Amino acid sequence: MIKVSGLVKKFNSFKAVDGITFKVQKGEIFGLLGPNGAGKTTTIRILTGIIKPTSGTAIIGGYNIQENPIKAKQLMGIVPEMTNVYTDFTAFKNLTFMGRLYGLNKNKITKKAEQLLKIFGLYEKREQKAKILSKGLKQRLIIGMGLMNDPKILFLDEPASGLDVESTRLIRRLIRKFNDDGITILLTTHNIEEAGQLCDRIAIMNYGKIIAIERPEKLKQLIKSAISIEVAFDKKIKKDELMFNDVSRIEKIGDKFRLHTEYPERVIPGLVEYSRSTDNKIISLNTLAPNLEDIFLELTRGREK
Ligand SMILES: Nc1ncnc2c1ncn2[C@@H]1O[C@H](COP(=O)(O)OP(=O)(O)OP(=O)(O)O)[C@@H](O)[C@H]1O
Ligand SMILES: [Mg+2]
Repeated sequence: MIKVSGLVKKFNSFKAVDGITFKVQKGEIFGLLGPNGAGKTTTIRILTGIIKPTSGTAIIGGYNIQENPIKAKQLMGIVPEMTNVYTDFTAFKNLTFMGRLYGLNKNKITKKAEQLLKIFGLYEKREQKAKILSKGLKQRLIIGMGLMNDPKILFLDEPASGLDVESTRLIRRLIRKFNDDGITILLTTHNIEEAGQLCDRIAIMNYGKIIAIERPEKLKQLIKSAISIEVAFDKKIKKDELMFNDVSRIEKIGDKFRLHTEYPERVIPGLVEYSRSTDNKIISLNTLAPNLEDIFLELTRGREK
């Protein structure tokens, strides 16, 4: 459904997207995972025909977005990063307005708008102006607007960023439902957990490049191998003293030690035992879930091997 080859986007001499290539199969949920500034939004903006690439091609549903933009865009629903709601329009009117932009007929527009309002739990609020909707409700409305034209491919840029647990869950559940209904989905996120829960495959992106495309199981393994334990002792010790079995690496960070391990459940008792036998009190002990940076490190380390 999506075929991207050698895509580059330069802003002056700065490469926001630096030669990415990937394919998304029909029926997939494909994630672009990367930190702020990785180039995710720029990629989506190219794929949806909002900006032109410096070089490379993007084929959407068989249509080259640059050569055949209208055909390609007819297949797409777009949920942008920045809101595209008209704040003085009601929820209902925002949806119907979108339907008109797509040139749908009036009956179809009303039916579809009402259906989407119900799905997104907005039906009661349909006559409220968008500007007084809460952030979560507004985001649901924005996603609904992306679905007015029954797209074959839905592009979602950070669909659940900054939302509470309930809205996040609803949005994830609906993304899965739309996917079950046959919509191919490309979404961006900087949330590893979200990518792991939602996506069939995940392109891990940094500095405009895709450094790996993985299935969520692989990502979970990476997450596991990037768990660390941070510990501080009362009395000074050398880091080698903590190099137990199952510890792959130790960093000294200020007065703390960060122990990298796949098996925190084995290492923590080891630390407690060490503390007891050396009569050196543990002042603090934390298990740290990996962040994106740890995952990148883990990935690039794996490559060097
Ligand atoms: N129109 C522009 N002109 C100049 N630089 C730009 C422009 N748009 C984006 N950039 C730069 O390109 C890089 C990638 O931006 P982009 O918005 O694609 O990142 P992102 O991965 O979506 O990040 P975020 O997670 O913050 O949304 C950033 O360094 C950004 O400042
Ligand atoms: Mg972005």
